[in-house]
Amino acid sequence: MSNRQKEPLDLTAIKVPDHIAIIMDGNGRWARRRGLPRQAGHRAGVENLRRIIDACVEFGIKVLTIYAFSTENWGRPPSEVRALMRIFARVLDQEVYELHEQGVCLHHLGDLSGISPDLQAKVKRAIELTKNNDRLILNVAFNYGGRAEIIHAVKQLLQDNVPADAMNEELFSNYLFTKGLSDPDLVIRTSGELRISNFLIWQAAYAEYLAVPEYWPDFDREALYKALLAYSNRERRFGLVTA
Ligand code: FPP
Repeated sequence: MSNRQKEPLDLTAIKVPDHIAIIMDGNGRWARRRGLPRQAGHRAGVENLRRIIDACVEFGIKVLTIYAFSTENWGRPPSEVRALMRIFARVLDQEVYELHEQGVCLHHLGDLSGISPDLQAKVKRAIELTKNNDRLILNVAFNYGGRAEIIHAVKQLLQDNVPADAMNEELFSNYLFTKGLSDPDLVIRTSGELRISNFLIWQAAYAEYLAVPEYWPDFDREALYKALLAYSNRERRFGLVTA
């Protein structure tokens, strides 16, 4: 992590969203630009995640959701999939204690049964360790897909014999992995791409969307602040008209 002095930022100038969600895109391009293997980009991505978690705590954000591994990412070369699994295991083994100290409460979004039993155990241990923390909720979407999440919810509803008349948005939300959490206010995608890529497709229905040019490893505290400034200048209407 860099030792450079933190630039003073005027937090009174921003509206701090409760919940931000980030599609951490561009690790591969960040690495290629430096003549490094893609895995080096993912390692730099994890280092940056540390910095962004610190910044979220500093700015007073309550929930951070990150897209770490999608259901589609299984189609990447096996060596890259293995590297991402190793990186996740290392985060769960080593970084989780520091996150715990910091008051971070870890949640998992996605299909846990689709990952190795060893990794499943590490995820469960980390969730148990951090469950009483309330400074920042960190949702890690890993083996996650928005459509798969909706299908999972529908299956559970059918298993629970929920009658059609009882169905409403609130009830449906309670069957999603994000049960009990507020919807994201802001979805940020790094690396300039303009797609939602099956991320929180139900929950982000009214989120503000922001595409930023930086590759994920370069999206630092100052870049997050700039994103929050842009968010602060948006007018959220939720389908209504300006007052
Ligand atoms: C997208 O960049 C990034 C990913 C698919 C993985 C994101 C993962 C991390 C930042 C590290 C893992 C973090 C945890 C908590 C496990 P890309 O590879 O698609 O980049 P590209 O579009 O430039 O190729």
